[in-house]
Amino acid sequence: MITPALLPLLLVAFALPSILAQVVSPYWRKPDITASPAERINLAGAALAKAVNQLNPAPQFFRELLSLSLSTRYNLTSLLSANATSGAVAGCKGSFYGQMAEFDLITKQTMWEKSLKTYFQVAQSAHVNFSTTKTYGRAAALAYAAYKDQTFLDYAMQSWWFGRAYTLSQDDVSAGRISTKNLSSLQEVCQNQTMVGGTFWLMDPVKPKLIPLSTGLSALLAEATSDQLYLQAAIESRKFIQAHLHNDLNIVLEAIYAPQNYSCDVINEIFPYNTGITIEGLSILAALINDTETQNLLEQILAAAIPYS
Ligand SMILES: *[C@@H]1O[C@H](CO)[C@@H](O)[C@H](O)[C@H]1NC(C)=O
Ligand SMILES: *[C@@H]1O[C@H](CO)[C@@H](O)[C@H](O)[C@H]1NC(C)=O
Ligand SMILES: *[C@@H]1O[C@H](CO)[C@@H](O)[C@H](O)[C@H]1NC(C)=O
Ligand SMILES: *[C@@H]1O[C@H](CO)[C@@H](O)[C@H](O)[C@H]1NC(C)=O
Ligand SMILES: *[C@@H]1O[C@H](CO)[C@@H](O)[C@H](O)[C@H]1NC(C)=O
Ligand SMILES: *[C@@H]1O[C@H](CO)[C@@H](O)[C@H](O)[C@H]1NC(C)=O
Ligand SMILES: *[C@@H]1O[C@H](CO)[C@@H](O)[C@H](O)[C@H]1NC(C)=O
Repeated sequence: MITPALLPLLLVAFALPSILAQVVSPYWRKPDITASPAERINLAGAALAKAVNQLNPAPQFFRELLSLSLSTRYNLTSLLSANATSGAVAGCKGSFYGQMAEFDLITKQTMWEKSLKTYFQVAQSAHVNFSTTKTYGRAAALAYAAYKDQTFLDYAMQSWWFGRAYTLSQDDVSAGRISTKNLSSLQEVCQNQTMVGGTFWLMDPVKPKLIPLSTGLSALLAEATSDQLYLQAAIESRKFIQAHLHNDLNIVLEAIYAPQNYSCDVINEIFPYNTGITIEGLSILAALINDTETQNLLEQILAAAIPYS
């Protein structure tokens, strides 16, 4: 069986030889990967084990030594000393749990299943429906794919419902407001295309930015449940990214402002994770519905990401 987590790799490796044939970025230090799959699995497993060792007995106080990848964006010093329940810290934890689940999914093991159950229980008891960050949802959906344990699916769905409340529906954009936010009139369209499908980054009722992060969770849930609700959400999210959040080079951008008084202003900053997480979401969705629009967008973004990164 081709697992969702493997799909991006498989697509790069097999489905798109014309893209692979392109020259990789000169910034890549060692573009040829010579380590065998077994060696790479050992390396990844050792890295995860090392990080897990940094967990305190109560994982909600996990200090995210693994989150160095985020340090270009967040000040790591202040992140490590931050209130452990803050969104940024929870986001790192969710990403890390996702890596644990993904490792088991790819290697067909259950090494982290028990630990993850505990971590998710703690996170959920601290915040109903994992309401600090959507990264828990993706991690839980991957854990469900790996272990087929309904508890993880329930967690993923709870996280989705939380994120749903911060995602623009047709009713929201028609009304120009969303109930979870206290913002002046929202844009109905930008670039002459609907804002439906955009997800707010932050829960703070006055924070105005919509970001490109939600296709993957909806697509993973669509795959796990065959529920049209999730599939529809994944498609809306794809359309939103397609309409508003990539540049002429097909690199995925950081955010677009939702309220009218920002005149559809886009935040053009480029962080590789936006493109990466979009590739993941689109590849899961493309495998589910195989429509040309999703497929084309995926190919364009992949083709852009390889030389650009
Ligand atoms: C990072 O945060 C620490 C503590 O809040 C502060 O002392 C330091 O100046 C910050 N560094 C940068 C580069 O902003
Ligand atoms: C940490 O953040 C939570 C949620 O925002 C808040 O309720 C709590 O008071 C904060 N704790 C400290 C020590 O700042
Ligand atoms: C929490 O998730 C459940 C689904 O498991 C959903 O029915 C409920 O509306 C959600 N509540 C919030 C506040 O997100
Ligand atoms: C919404 O914003 C208005 C004006 O800024 C403020 O008076 C009101 O208290 C806010 N309401 C909520 C629920 O945050
Ligand atoms: C905007 O979209 C509408 C309907 O989708 C279309 O009829 C109209 O021509 C478009 N306007 C521009 C300026 O592209
Ligand atoms: C839009 O309005 C909000 C609330 O009145 C304000 O805080 C914000 O600065 C405004 N933004 C722009 C770009 O005018
Ligand atoms: C997707 O559709 C194309 C043609 O529409 C077909 O060639 C291809 O095999 C399909 N792929 C999958 C995974 O169904």
